Amino acid sequence: MSSQQTFRLGILGSGKGSNADAIADGCASGKIPAQVAVVLSDVAEAGILQKARARGLNAKFIDPGKFRTKLDDAAEVAFIKTLQEAKVDLVVLAGFMRILKGEFLRVFKDRVINIHPSLLPSFPGLDAWKQALDYGVKHTGVTVHFVDQGIDTGPIIAQETVAILQGDTAEMLHKRIQETEHRLYSKAVAALARGEVQVRGRQTIWKQS
Ligand code: GRF
Repeated sequence: MSSQQTFRLGILGSGKGSNADAIADGCASGKIPAQVAVVLSDVAEAGILQKARARGLNAKFIDPGKFRTKLDDAAEVAFIKTLQEAKVDLVVLAGFMRILKGEFLRVFKDRVINIHPSLLPSFPGLDAWKQALDYGVKHTGVTVHFVDQGIDTGPIIAQETVAILQGDTAEMLHKRIQETEHRLYSKAVAALARGEVQVRGRQTIWKQS
């Protein structure tokens, strides 16, 4: 990307889209020096598409194909092609419920990030805040990481803790985790857009600003 051009984001999600919305807000206000080039979902009626369309963003449903947890070959090609046509610099997963592997990660090497609602490597997988509550830990949190071939295993970009309070229900804890997510994901995307984060093996290095 030349320094003249705006850094372009492709956001993928399957759910309500609160993180995508927070990032779009950050772009609109200038806090994130980037633009949302396209929003894609594997769920036709997902809130993330509705919210994006309400903002006038380019938002598309792509049929994921016959599998439940991954994209079939045709769908993978369609996602890659749409992101390439939108000239995205960074693929931002925001509640995208399918595993991305192989060709997708080769094409967008070191350019796919995800947000996970726990302090990885604790509690990977689904409903991580419930896992933390059930386990009885006193602190959980949020992790932003690069995506690799594993599940929630890529190099960590940023983390923030969230305390688990006495009497917390899963809903109360999830609300605080999501508030933290919106702030941390926006901060991480802004740093990546400014070219302030580099990945070296498992380490990520933040340039001092
Ligand atoms: C977030 O909690 C994120 O950590 C997880 O999926 C959820 C997406 O929420 N990966 P939203 O659709 O951004 O509201």
